[in-house]
Amino acid sequence: MTMLDDVLSHIDANLPASLDRLFHLLRIESISTDPAYREQVRAAADWLSGELDGIGFAASVRPTTGHPMVVAHDPDDAGGPHVLFYGHYDVQPVDPLDEWDSPPFEPRIETVDGHEQIVARGASDDKGQLMTFVEACRAWKAVTGSLPIRVSVLFEGEEESGSPSLKPFLEANAEDLRADLALVCDTDMWDRQRPAITVMLRGLVGEEITITAADRDLHSGLYGGAARNPIHVLADIIARLRDADGRVTVPGFYDGVDDLPADVKALWDSLGFDSDAFLGDVGLSLPAGETGRSVLEQIWARPTCEVNGITGGYTGEGFKTVIPAKASAKISFRLVGGQDPDQIRRNFRDFVEGHLPADCSVTFAEHGGAQALRLPFTGDALSRARAALTDEWGMEPALVGSGGSIPVVGELKQALGIDSLMIGFALDDDRIHSPNEKYDVSSFRGGIRSWARVLAALAT
Ligand code: BES
Ligand code: ZN
Repeated sequence: MTMLDDVLSHIDANLPASLDRLFHLLRIESISTDPAYREQVRAAADWLSGELDGIGFAASVRPTTGHPMVVAHDPDDAGGPHVLFYGHYDVQPVDPLDEWDSPPFEPRIETVDGHEQIVARGASDDKGQLMTFVEACRAWKAVTGSLPIRVSVLFEGEEESGSPSLKPFLEANAEDLRADLALVCDTDMWDRQRPAITVMLRGLVGEEITITAADRDLHSGLYGGAARNPIHVLADIIARLRDADGRVTVPGFYDGVDDLPADVKALWDSLGFDSDAFLGDVGLSLPAGETGRSVLEQIWARPTCEVNGITGGYTGEGFKTVIPAKASAKISFRLVGGQDPDQIRRNFRDFVEGHLPADCSVTFAEHGGAQALRLPFTGDALSRARAALTDEWGMEPALVGSGGSIPVVGELKQALGIDSLMIGFALDDDRIHSPNEKYDVSSFRGGIRSWARVLAALAT
């Protein structure tokens, strides 16, 4: 028996206690985007800091102008590379609440088609995932008294709301956070059997626009026809954002977008992605993106514009004949390649202003931005991690892209010059950001075991 074998056995023997700790974290309502949950976000940071202290890290909760960061260092320096593990402890809002089968912050285990699943907001994104690393460190320390390599930890509390404090925090704490490599656990597996390393992420521009016309709400009979209706104006602008082929019409939007290199295309073709099943699983049948692009290309390698929310006028019970004074929408762009988030934000604002009719005005609010990322498909750390994952899952990890965004990866590179290795154990059907979010117990257990192996693999 090697030391690693002992650690892996310890992980399995102590899985119930690991699940208890995860459940504790899942009960904390750390919704970062809603100011009403500020104290709960703080409580999650405090709890995590305490857990890290408890396993021998020197941990602290660091204030920012938004939600706090948790930073922890293992006092031992075992030599080898110094890694900085990143996860986020904040979660998305729970609405629509009535579509949850059980309360979102009362975690439970449910067995579906023979798979045990932890159901709760944040079970997968990202509390379950970040706890896989904490539990792997706990096991190494319990069995051997130390970690195989030098480890620091950074937990963020505002990833789901665009990471507004991240860049200034990294810049102000560059020395303290310096490491050779970041490990990020916030991504998916290829499927339940096959692990994945994510090497491409889309970027993001989040914008909220509010269009105002008359200086008050009006009776839609008395004024209808003569008064400008801001909901119509908003709908018209939204409709103009994409053409009939699904391409975004904001000028300059495709600057920096290149076609997929042939070797990447070949790699993806070899993955055997089932686009019918991907869409079928969520009740859809026809891809709705750019014509002439495969579904995998549409979600991993092409930029898009999505309307995430729209409000205006009377939306309560019954009916009210009103022309509202204002209407607003939350709109996000997913970016690829070299698209520049700041330029796209400016171009979008010009586009909206350019389509504004008389008597209307618009205000904009920024909700996060992140550059798209393409990481190297090769490298020493990547091959070591690949081997470790192959040992755990009995299958080579797929090198994948992802349509989601994780701002920290680009910020770590920019502010600290650190590359990231993105390994996650979430599944496509985890319903992240949706009601009844879940994380398979097999993801949690396999995730803990995988990190235990990756730490060992990076050491030798
Ligand atoms: N973990 C997700 C992103 C993700 C999921 C990446 C699955 C790869 C695979 C992350 O927490 C997330 O949802 N990020 C937001 C960021 C945004 C609010 C800036 C996103 O992508 O919408
Ligand atoms: Zn996440």
